[in-house]
Amino acid sequence: MNFRVRPVRRLSGECEVPGDKSISHRAALLGALAEGPTEVQGYLEGEDCLRTITAIQMMGVEVTKKGPGHYRIAGAGLGGLVEPADVIDCGNSGTTARLLIGFVAGQPFWTLLTGDESLRRRPMKRVAQPLMRMGATIVGRADGERLPLAVRGAARPRAIAYDTPVASAQVKSAILLAGLRADGPVAVREPAPSRDHSEVMLRAFGARLERPDTRTVILHPGPLRGTAIQVPGDISSAAFVLAAGLIVPGARVTVRRVGVNPTRTGLLDVLAAMHAPLTTKAQGGEGEPMAALTVSAGPLAATTVADALIPRLIDEIPVLAVLGAMARGTTEIRDAAELRVKESDRIAVLGRELAKMGVRIEDRADGMAIAGGQRFRGARVASAGDHRMAMALAVAGLVADGETVIEDTACVQTSFPTFVETLNALAGGDAITVER
Ligand code: S3P
Repeated sequence: MNFRVRPVRRLSGECEVPGDKSISHRAALLGALAEGPTEVQGYLEGEDCLRTITAIQMMGVEVTKKGPGHYRIAGAGLGGLVEPADVIDCGNSGTTARLLIGFVAGQPFWTLLTGDESLRRRPMKRVAQPLMRMGATIVGRADGERLPLAVRGAARPRAIAYDTPVASAQVKSAILLAGLRADGPVAVREPAPSRDHSEVMLRAFGARLERPDTRTVILHPGPLRGTAIQVPGDISSAAFVLAAGLIVPGARVTVRRVGVNPTRTGLLDVLAAMHAPLTTKAQGGEGEPMAALTVSAGPLAATTVADALIPRLIDEIPVLAVLGAMARGTTEIRDAAELRVKESDRIAVLGRELAKMGVRIEDRADGMAIAGGQRFRGARVASAGDHRMAMALAVAGLVADGETVIEDTACVQTSFPTFVETLNALAGGDAITVER
């Protein structure tokens, strides 16, 4: 599937984006482990999060779809899951794979996990190592680094205090999920705070957690109680709409009900540093705050993105690179080597594909330097099967000279299935057409 993108002359109006991907995965997993039912509204019905639902169903959890994005999960309790009868295919979803490895590390049965070509290239030892210390057996390709993997959970995982070398919410969450059945409190300390949706949601399910500082969490094992979860819109999807609203001349767009958990709003801080015309209006939300975000087109200033900001906007870097190319001055991204092990090597793919659109990016080991004041030229580019690359390239296409064709865009279904219709509605026409 390809996108054909035409430059647009207007972009205006209001929209919502689908539910947060990270929060949706966690709602399914914690709902499965809880006692009693969990009702989730606003669940992201993208391929990644549907994989997580299939996985819990394969372990005997009953899931009923009650409406669009509305699911009832009959919790099986911490001890009520059954060994899956087949290999669980996590598709393209790193979060499904890594969180599931933790989820089954406390289950005394065998689970086999695999994924698509991209996911089978991604590192898994970062979660396997601490979970093996907790007593799980994990074997897999490349000495346990890559899927397919087999996990034999421990009936009663050992309590550990773990200093993770990477600021990764997936690593942290995998340990916490296994820790629910541990023989004592489990502590995780990170080099910088990563998204804390697991912590927020564990508390909503009645778990006892301590957070001595922003980089440390301690979980006291114990049962979970089913609850009601309202999933806010995904700021990582909103990012594409907001970026388009900042660069299409004369644009003004509002995205309502976006999740603005402070561990996820690095993008908003960077946009402020770039002098972007952005306003935020709080819209409630328990535990996970929501806001309406409004942007209008205006000149952008270059900035530097590094250090503790990186985990707060890691998924937004592809579209930030597009903004950087149009800003005044040179935008630098540092401390972001993680980009190399996402759905694609995003540093390499950004450099290669944006070059086809006439934009030069200096590729560095842990980031990039993007000279501003450049113009995008319509071209034929490819997503490398990476949803966020496909959408970032589409945003660039909206302001390019001439038409842009983006190859390999079916991946957008993983996180933002309504991407094309949302942008076309704001553009008042067919800015993006889908060619099958
Ligand atoms: C996620 C954490 C991040 C992020 C991913 C979702 C999560 O990955 O990039 O899209 O839901 O926990 P890492 O934990 O690997 O940084």
